[in-house]
Amino acid sequence: MKPRHPFMLRSLPYSFRLGIALLVITLLGGYIVSGLHLKWHYDNRDEEPGLSMNDIIGAYHGVQSPSPLIQALETGHPEDLPEPERNALLDWLRSDRLSQDYDNLDLGENAPSEIIAFNCLDCHTRSASGADAMPSVPLEYWDDIQSIAYSKDIQPAGTNIVAMSQHAHAPSMAIILIVIAWLAICTRFWMGLTGLITFVSGLGLLVDMAGWWITRDIAAFAYAVVIGGGIYSAGTSLLGLMVIVDCILPGGKRTKSE
Ligand code: HEC
Repeated sequence: MKPRHPFMLRSLPYSFRLGIALLVITLLGGYIVSGLHLKWHYDNRDEEPGLSMNDIIGAYHGVQSPSPLIQALETGHPEDLPEPERNALLDWLRSDRLSQDYDNLDLGENAPSEIIAFNCLDCHTRSASGADAMPSVPLEYWDDIQSIAYSKDIQPAGTNIVAMSQHAHAPSMAIILIVIAWLAICTRFWMGLTGLITFVSGLGLLVDMAGWWITRDIAAFAYAVVIGGGIYSAGTSLLGLMVIVDCILPGGKRTKSE
């Protein structure tokens, strides 16, 4: 067996090892909290509840998606809607008076709510039934309309904000991994495994951090940000667990090579 380096955690006083174990537990606990913070922070980027890839893409790249209502009307849906009504709806949707004019009494039967009631609600109510009905896209109330009337335009965080955030994150996350990896290589566990986990987690962090910038141009890179960050967190947690276990277990008999 190859001789190991002399600094083995288990040869150190138990009080020191317990102290290290507690510190690593605190560190990993902090990670769980920052994971939660991340979730809350990005949750509503795309104006829909729940953390999704769209939130992440919105934050680093921005998301533009056209209004589903405009899209449907522009592509000729529904087929039997008379041209004047279609144009009236489109003019209204492209204006900046969406909520004011929706049921504006001055517009009489040209008010969007009237056109919709007359031309759409056969199929687009929650209780609509029949082969052609679309009850999953109700158009009965302003709240229903509102959620599909606007085009989405989520701007990514400014470069100064990304730089400021990275200035705090990159060094601290790297140093945490360096310290944990250093401790982990001093455990009784197989060094080859510790080395592999350290390598993969370090690569994950690099991809994550570089991805913050690359995603500005290439939206798909948001997946690399998430996967890289995930690998870094998983690897760091795993190494941390190895350190905790090694510190808490009794030291045992030392072998000759130590
Ligand atoms: C004859 C029934 C019928 C009428 C009338 C009708 N729709 Fe639809 N609508 C559907 C069906 C079925 C779908 C889903 C299939 C499709 O996209 O064609 C749909 C889809 C849509 C969608 C797409 C939803 C999405 O998430 O992509 C929008 C928006 C929409 N309709 C708006 C309207 C508006 C506005 C009117 C009135 C001007 C209208 N519809 C009239 C049956 C109807």
